[in-house]
Amino acid sequence: MTQSHSPLVDMRNMSIAFGGNKAVNDVSIDLYPGEVVGLLGHNGAGKSTLIKILSGAYRMSRGEIRIDGQPVSIDNPREAKALGIETIYQTLALADNLDAASNLFLGREIRTRWNTLDDAAMESACRQVMGRLNPNFKRFKDPVKSLSGGQRQSVAIARALYFNARILIMDEPTAALGPEETAQVAELIKHLKSEGIGIFLISHDIHDVFDLSDRVSVMKNGQLVGTAEVSQVTKDDVLGMIILGKCPEGVVPGPGASPTENTLEEGPLAMP
Ligand SMILES: Nc1ncnc2c1ncn2[C@@H]1O[C@H](COP(=O)(O)OP(=O)(O)O)[C@@H](O)[C@H]1O
Ligand SMILES: [Mg+2]
Repeated sequence: MTQSHSPLVDMRNMSIAFGGNKAVNDVSIDLYPGEVVGLLGHNGAGKSTLIKILSGAYRMSRGEIRIDGQPVSIDNPREAKALGIETIYQTLALADNLDAASNLFLGREIRTRWNTLDDAAMESACRQVMGRLNPNFKRFKDPVKSLSGGQRQSVAIARALYFNARILIMDEPTAALGPEETAQVAELIKHLKSEGIGIFLISHDIHDVFDLSDRVSVMKNGQLVGTAEVSQVTKDDVLGMIILGKCPEGVVPGPGASPTENTLEEGPLAMP
């Protein structure tokens, strides 16, 4: 892919601490339009905390966020949404008893000029955006609790798309799904990519993200181990980054990378 434009998202030297715990420590990650960046690392590595800064849920203590090259301040979720940043949490945050259209417009309903809910307009908009994402979806009248996990996921994504998401954050999107539904989510992600949306795909499991990602960024103990082009590394290379903090050749190590054998032998940290 071409990366000649400025990144959609550029997070630089991001840090946040809870008490004495440096949950995110000097992490720099970027994302280009139409790109999927897999954010990987063990539970507790700091992945969710990092993206909660981007989605306006947490405020960073140090760092800078640029959107389209422009420095921005994101102080709450509303400001993130105004910048086109939408987050899909594992729980999906859907209202189970309501149908797809009601979920799409929850809290942002379309009203008629008499200030009543414009159900026809909402259903028509819902059919249009769902048609883009999941053309086989027909269950517009059913409460979302009766839908499959993959269908529920597409309702949550439709909500983000309808409100003009350009940057989608998906935190462990397939953690609760079976293989068939996971495949559906993979299709959704490919479709979003083709529309030029940039996606942060977060997982503790490399198998969830490796094949879908253009690049992977690995975090360990709050720090960035490194960022690799998926086409340049193997799954084992990335596992080495996750487990040992070890960067394969060709990957620029971040502050969280373990020193290589070479530096251990020859560097100032060498043991006698
Ligand atoms: N609201 C919070 N208050 C205190 N500690 C937190 C909070 N959120 C996250 N942490 C801590 O930050 C670290 C990173 O957590 P998290 O970002 O959830 O990791 P991951 O998503 O990679 O599993 C953990 O040590 C976690 O306990
Ligand atoms: Mg998490």
